[in-house]
Amino acid sequence: MTDNASKNNTSKPLRILVGVGGGIAAFKAAHLVRYFTERGHNVHVVPTESALNFVGAATWEALSGNPVSTTVWDDVSGVQHVRLGQEADLIVVAPATADLMARLRMGRADDLLTASCLVATCPVVIAPAMHTEMWENPATQDNVATLRSRGITVLEPAHGRLTGKDSGPGRLPEPDHIGALALAAHAQPGIFHQDLVGTRVVVTAGGTHEELDPVRFLGNASSGRQGYALADVAAQRGADVHLIAGHTEDLPTPSGARVTRISSALELKDATEQAAREADVVIMAAAVADYRPAQQADSKLKKGGEDQLEVIELVENPDILAGLVELRRAGELPEGLRIVGFAAETGDSESTPLEHAQRKFLRKGCDLLMANAVGRGKVFGQEDSAGWLITNPFGSDNPEALEVREVPAGHKLEVAGAILNALPNT
Ligand code: CTP
Repeated sequence: MTDNASKNNTSKPLRILVGVGGGIAAFKAAHLVRYFTERGHNVHVVPTESALNFVGAATWEALSGNPVSTTVWDDVSGVQHVRLGQEADLIVVAPATADLMARLRMGRADDLLTASCLVATCPVVIAPAMHTEMWENPATQDNVATLRSRGITVLEPAHGRLTGKDSGPGRLPEPDHIGALALAAHAQPGIFHQDLVGTRVVVTAGGTHEELDPVRFLGNASSGRQGYALADVAAQRGADVHLIAGHTEDLPTPSGARVTRISSALELKDATEQAAREADVVIMAAAVADYRPAQQADSKLKKGGEDQLEVIELVENPDILAGLVELRRAGELPEGLRIVGFAAETGDSESTPLEHAQRKFLRKGCDLLMANAVGRGKVFGQEDSAGWLITNPFGSDNPEALEVREVPAGHKLEVAGAILNALPNT
């Protein structure tokens, strides 16, 4: 998929209502509006009266190309107080203050934004931003829990610098990040339901670097996007997420996730096996190098001279995924641990990508495998992906008896949602 409107698996332009609460992060909503309009969507901005203290109506009108109002008393003959909410395909409130969430929870309808949310039947995504104390206050947490129980998506705030000198959870996630999560909530309703509360999920992401000397390595083209998307969706679904990240593009840290950085396959193995001891689910989305140089030079290898490198001797790296399955079998990892693998396949003259993936699934012994057909410019580094989810409901060793479910093309967040939905129960 290349055209803009098709990003996040949406081929038709959506009518998106962007609600803006009265917090300092209101300026970031300007980028969020841009994120949607650049993808061809029709945006109506509905700020609260106090949001206009931070960013004026002219900015919202110019960016969205639509009139802006805060009150139910404008355009009365057009019944605007119900029309905007009824017509919206998606409502995104960013930033949402503690006060705005309290009003939404109470079902108030005393301004255009709350009235619109009250009539909406489309997905509603709320991105809170406030000081840590306000976020952690039981009153706010109770409001968040109630809104979530009604099917509204309340995103976890990011951790980081807040308005003053303080820092902690309460920061508005970056606008592109909110935009992608919101479009995923539209494309896959229920993607952020709270089914993973109390579940400990380890996700590995990105590629490994296998060092030749202090400045050179063998690496691969993994961007880390799929692993980050998995960590993101799992965390938004309430899981306790530990992300073990190798080399990736510059991606936003999933809100609430603990992150360990590693470089080589051997470091990844140690970190993953350690983390798996205290996990319910391990998802191996990392692109692990199969081989590493047999020797790592302590100083930079030089052209010419005796040390000149003409042939790189390689040794095989351990298979971390198969190793986890083995450790579980040996009783060294919890029996109930669910282990998920990936298979990136090109296919060849003998077999299709899916046939390769089915054999790989049996070879690795994991509980669930996400298979992609890859190639130049396909899947690696892209926003979207597609493929098949493979499970073995009958414990068969025949590739043809495996269960294969197709995962339709969609944003990697949506693919992550499909993977998490397919986790086998223990
Ligand atoms: N994997 C792993 N350790 C390795 C290689 C791969 O844990 N040394 C994991 C990956 O994280 C992924 C799965 O195994 O979940 C399949 O990875 P892939 O590279 O497709 O398979 P390989 O085992 O390397 O097989 P091949 O390269 O022959 O296709």
